[in-house]
Amino acid sequence: MLVLGIESSCDETGVALVQAEGAQLPVLRADALHSQIEMHQAYGGVVPELASRDHIRRVLPLTEAVLSQAQIGLHEVDVVAYTRGPGLAGALLVGAGVACALGAALDKPVLGVHHLEGHLLSPFLGADPPEFPFVALLVSGGHSQLMRVDGVGRYLLLGETIDDAAGEAFDKSAKLMGLGYPGGPALSRIAQHGDPKAFKLPRPLLHSGDLNFSFAGLKTAVMTQAKKLGAQLPARTADLAASTQAAIVEVLVAKSVAALKASGLDRLVVAGGVGANTALREQLNAACARMGVRVHYPELRLCTDNGAMIAMAAAMRLGAGVQTANKAYAFDVKPRWPLASIGE
Ligand code: KG4
Ligand code: ZN
Repeated sequence: MLVLGIESSCDETGVALVQAEGAQLPVLRADALHSQIEMHQAYGGVVPELASRDHIRRVLPLTEAVLSQAQIGLHEVDVVAYTRGPGLAGALLVGAGVACALGAALDKPVLGVHHLEGHLLSPFLGADPPEFPFVALLVSGGHSQLMRVDGVGRYLLLGETIDDAAGEAFDKSAKLMGLGYPGGPALSRIAQHGDPKAFKLPRPLLHSGDLNFSFAGLKTAVMTQAKKLGAQLPARTADLAASTQAAIVEVLVAKSVAALKASGLDRLVVAGGVGANTALREQLNAACARMGVRVHYPELRLCTDNGAMIAMAAAMRLGAGVQTANKAYAFDVKPRWPLASIGE
């Protein structure tokens, strides 16, 4: 079975083709991506209307590139999957509209995928796929969640952010330091040259006793520190970046460890854009090694948004029998859609 996947929830257009055979794990045949980062950079953040228009421009050429890479004809595609939500409504509608149009033209069924489930299952595309059950740390630009995952479609929320997401904390802090958009990669790059102990920043909810996160206060503390530095900020940016990163990473690692202890599981899966962060990976690896826990990451390039994870999630949902593809072609999208209510 060949599943074509289309991702268009935010600022990346991703298309990919996954092949599923029997009980085996589906494999990635081809994928292509266009990032809109450069286009949005001039505005310091994602402009939804521009994002939608660019998805329209990119999605068909990317689809053609994927098919020719895999040497597959469009008629050989069995299911067309797309990101149904959460995300920007207009951007989601592009992927959903194109997927449904392709499905209708080919007389093939379509399937809407939850974007976060795509991230969650993306490590299954790697060379070292995890086994169920596991604890998942999902850290993206819009979400920070800890989950217990017992199988495809069996997700129990253990804790989540009560305000900003981890990626948002990276992005907003980076903006305050004049590092542009998206701030996460830029901040982590400059943090390599700084002292993580240079500034005392809060570790919100570190000792809260639950598995929730809060990053809004940290951003405010970074802003206060940046203002205090004033004209000295450029000379101290690396130190402030390193201190900010250390605060975010310490909380993410501590809560992941707590989730592993509380659940008694010995496997951790890290997914979402912030999962690309080197400091986070190093410290999670060290903490998990001490506990005898195995950590699985998606391939670095598949940490951020992509079509492969959408095709993979669709193939795994079909394989596990938790969802069927259909020919309704309603292309309804869900800009707000908690992962816990995925069956609805
Ligand atoms: O998963 P993703 O591509 O999009 C969402 O679904 O939100 O995540 C994007 C987020 C952004 O906030 C970006 O700054 C952050 O991931 N990010 C990073 C790194 N690479 C991407 N944050 C810290 N360090 C990185 N290396
Ligand atoms: Zn994402």
